[in-house]
Amino acid sequence: MIRLQNVYKEYGGRPALNNINLHIGLGEFAFLVGPSGAGKSTLMRLLYREESPDRGSVMIGGVNLTKLASRQVPLLRRRLGIVFQDYKLLPKQTVTDNVAYVLRALGVEEIDVQRRVQSALCVVNLEDKADAVPEELSGGEQQRVGIARAIVNGPPVLLADEPTGNLDPTTSLEIVQLLERISQRGTTVLISTHDQLIVNALRRRVISLKNGQVVSDVDSGVYELEATV
Ligand SMILES: Nc1ncnc2c1ncn2[C@@H]1O[C@H](COP(=O)(O)OP(=O)(O)O)[C@@H](O)[C@H]1O
Ligand SMILES: [Mg+2]
Repeated sequence: MIRLQNVYKEYGGRPALNNINLHIGLGEFAFLVGPSGAGKSTLMRLLYREESPDRGSVMIGGVNLTKLASRQVPLLRRRLGIVFQDYKLLPKQTVTDNVAYVLRALGVEEIDVQRRVQSALCVVNLEDKADAVPEELSGGEQQRVGIARAIVNGPPVLLADEPTGNLDPTTSLEIVQLLERISQRGTTVLISTHDQLIVNALRRRVISLKNGQVVSDVDSGVYELEATV
């Protein structure tokens, strides 16, 4: 579903990603770990075509993103759910309107919008907050809105860059367990994090980056900080 081949990306002559080869299959769940500066966010940005590699290819669902014209990027984004560390919610809009935003922009009929928003809020267990605005919600609830927004269009791939970076340990665990449940419905999920607790609690595939390179990739893995710092 996700494939990177010989991917190289530099900033100002310094490699942020150095010859990455990676395959994540359909419906797989994986953590991308590594210390700050390892290249996690850069790799994520390549996957949603916020940036392009200097060399190598990035494929999602058979589409080569390096060959995608700019006008095709919105089409790609519709097939991706993206979850951010800082949620990126519209502060003055209700939970429903935040989650509905993309569907309305796509011109989906309002009756379908309502149905799909309700279903997404049900998945993240926030139906009772549908009319709240973000500042009335806890951090964990705001991130659940972010996740509902990411899945409302039923994307085959869900990318989350440090989704628990602003949350306490208990809430972080709830969020990552929610992402795991979503993957069990068939969605390919990639989570970048440097949070050892959530990685070790789940024992799923762990891809470790260090200095822009994949230094280990194990199934049912743990995040050993001493090996990556
Ligand atoms: N937009 C940018 N401009 C210049 N350097 C960048 C930019 N984005 C990332 N980098 C550099 O690339 C490296 C990897 O960064 P990043 O992907 O953000 O790592 P991580 O998310 O693992 O902390 C770091 O050395 C960082 O300083
Ligand atoms: Mg980062």
